[in-house]
Amino acid sequence: MKDMIVYVEEGGDLTEARLLADKLNVPLILSDPFQEEREDLILRFHKDGLSLCGEGLEMQGDLTHMIPRLKKNNLQREFLVKASRMKHPEEHPVAVDATAGMGEDSLLLAAAGYQVVLYELNPVIAAMLKDSLRRASSVPELKEAVSRMHVREGDSIEGLSGLDTPPDLVLLDPMFPERKKSGLIKKKFQLLQKLERPCSDEEKLFDAAWNAGPRRLVIKRPLKGPYLAGVKPDYSISGKAIRYDCFVNLQDKRCK
Ligand SMILES: C[S@@+](CC[C@H](N)C(=O)[O-])C[C@H]1O[C@@H](n2cnc3c(N)ncnc32)[C@H](O)[C@@H]1O
Repeated sequence: MKDMIVYVEEGGDLTEARLLADKLNVPLILSDPFQEEREDLILRFHKDGLSLCGEGLEMQGDLTHMIPRLKKNNLQREFLVKASRMKHPEEHPVAVDATAGMGEDSLLLAAAGYQVVLYELNPVIAAMLKDSLRRASSVPELKEAVSRMHVREGDSIEGLSGLDTPPDLVLLDPMFPERKKSGLIKKKFQLLQKLERPCSDEEKLFDAAWNAGPRRLVIKRPLKGPYLAGVKPDYSISGKAIRYDCFVNLQDKRCK
C-alpha cells in the first residue's frame, strides 16, 4: 500500500479525521498538501465528507448512480437480485455481505428487502463506505434501502464465525472484477484498488461463509473465473461479465 496522509480542510470533520489518522498511524495535516507534487495518497476531509486523492484524481463514494438500477422493474432484472431470491422468503430476511467494498451490491440487496450487515476489512475503504452511506441516507431515492445497511469494520471471517443465528444469505465478492467503464471511472477505481491487498484467504472466507449455515450463499465471480476455493456451486447465474455462483440450504451442510 502507498504512504498516506490525512488532510482536514476547512469544514472537514476534525474528530473523524483524527480517529482515522490514529487508526492508520499516519500523519494528520491541516495545511494544503496539494501545493506540491506528492507520491502519497491523501485522505481529504472536507465539508462534503471524505475523499481519496492521488495521481491527480479524487474519488468519493457515491451511490446516487445506482438510483436507476433500484427502480422496481430494473431491480428485479439484476442478476444479484435473481441469485438472492428465495422461494419462501422470511418477512425480514438478513444478508451478510462479507466483502462490502463500496457497498453497491449491498445496496441492491437492501433495496430488494434484505437487512444487510456489511463487513469491510480495510479501514480506509470502511471509512469511505460509511461516509458514502451517510450522504446516501439523505437522498430520497436511497434512504429507505440505506436504512437497512449496517457497516461492521473488520474481518468477516471472524464475524461470520461469531454469528448467533444463521443469516438467510451470505454474499462474497473477494475480487475487483474488470469493470467495463469509461477511462476516468476505471482510473478512479484503480485509486481505490491501491489500498487493497490481494485476498489471500479465499478458502477461509469460503469456509466461514459455508459454516455460518445460510439458506443461500452467493459468490460473485468474473464470468470465466474459477470457482471460489475450487468448490462447484449448486447452480450459477451468468451476466455479460459477471457470474453468480449459488449454494443453497447450507444450514444442513455445515462443517464441510
Ligand atoms: C471486490 S470488493 C467488493 C465490492 C462490492 N461487492 C461492491 O459492490 O462495492 C472486495 C472488498 O472486500 C474486502 N474484503 C476482503 N476480504 C475481507 C474480509 N475477510 N473481511 C471483510 N472485508 C474483506 C476488501 O477490502 C474489498 O474492499
